[in-house]
Amino acid sequence: MSKPDLAVSIAGLRLANPLVLASGIFGTHASLMVRAARAGAGAITAKSAGTQPRSGHPNPSCVDFGGGLLNAIGLANPGAAAEVALLIETRAQLAPLGVPLIASIFADRVENFGRVAAQIAEAAPDLLEVNISCPNVASDFGEPFAGSPATAAAVTAAVRKQVSVPIIIKLAPNVPDLGQIARAVVDAGADAICAINTMPGLLVDLESGQPVLANRTGGVSGAALAPIALYAVYQISAAVDVPIIGTGGVSSGADALRMIMAGATAVGVGSAVYREGPAVFERIATEMAGWLAERDLTLDQIRGRAHGRVLWPEAPSTPPVPHAAARATIPQEHG
Ligand SMILES: Cc1cc2nc3c(=O)[nH]c(=O)nc-3n(C[C@H](O)[C@H](O)[C@H](O)COP(=O)(O)O)c2cc1C
Repeated sequence: MSKPDLAVSIAGLRLANPLVLASGIFGTHASLMVRAARAGAGAITAKSAGTQPRSGHPNPSCVDFGGGLLNAIGLANPGAAAEVALLIETRAQLAPLGVPLIASIFADRVENFGRVAAQIAEAAPDLLEVNISCPNVASDFGEPFAGSPATAAAVTAAVRKQVSVPIIIKLAPNVPDLGQIARAVVDAGADAICAINTMPGLLVDLESGQPVLANRTGGVSGAALAPIALYAVYQISAAVDVPIIGTGGVSSGADALRMIMAGATAVGVGSAVYREGPAVFERIATEMAGWLAERDLTLDQIRGRAHGRVLWPEAPSTPPVPHAAARATIPQEHG
């Protein structure tokens, strides 16, 4: 039983394994991000940064409800200028570990996405993720830009014009047609897609009858998000041919493998890190490698397999179903 190679590539960048620390989980703490890398993350995503510092929403801003988390952190961040210094410091510590750094940005207007992107690019991150999908700042900023193909494409084009670093567009789950939005951002210059951000949600305290979070509503992440994220990755990978970072509810090797079977190239891990700490990366990678080794399969052989018709188990000598060909067989009718 040989040890499977878990390395993947996103926009020409090599990750030693597909597991990516999702944005926001370790705030803007360089030391925590570096600890996640040492603990086995394949890449690290920093907290989303905007033009100005933001203190975010008051507490309680993140609650574990058993099936996952509900958070309304409110994009607390030190602002792009301070974030550049933080990213430079983090990148310097990640480079010797061979772990790429993904910067993340958000903004209130299309032009400002371009501005923040240009500023953050000064830190020379390996990739730039564009968060057009945070559900927790709608009252401040209006609807998320991920809500329509036109606004999603406009943001992508504005960022593309300003920077040469490969860009990842982070999409929202709560839209009518994810495939259409994915096609719009890829046509506008996205090199990869991250799917998904949290899903809007509400927790109500039984005794007071009031919302639990100070912001009242928040974004659902963790286990409750898993089928929604799988659905998103499945829809997006049927629509476009760029790498997808499948993110939502992954806390085990099985979850991560399912995400890749749905069509993801890499796998974001957020709430599971929040719950279990950085050691979660090595556990998930070990579980993935064990499952693949037992079946003598590679990641390339399972990627996009949910789109095909071949059932497990298969003989190790069976050639993999090519992702593009498998896409042609997706049934279009939905209930
Ligand atoms: C506490 C918290 C803070 C987050 N902050 C950000 C953020 O700043 N930018 C962003 O794009 N996503 C943010 N997210 C969303 C995560 O990156 C991820 O997309 C989501 O939690 C789903 O993954 P998970 O189920 O593995 O947590 C945040 C999530 C949580 C739980």
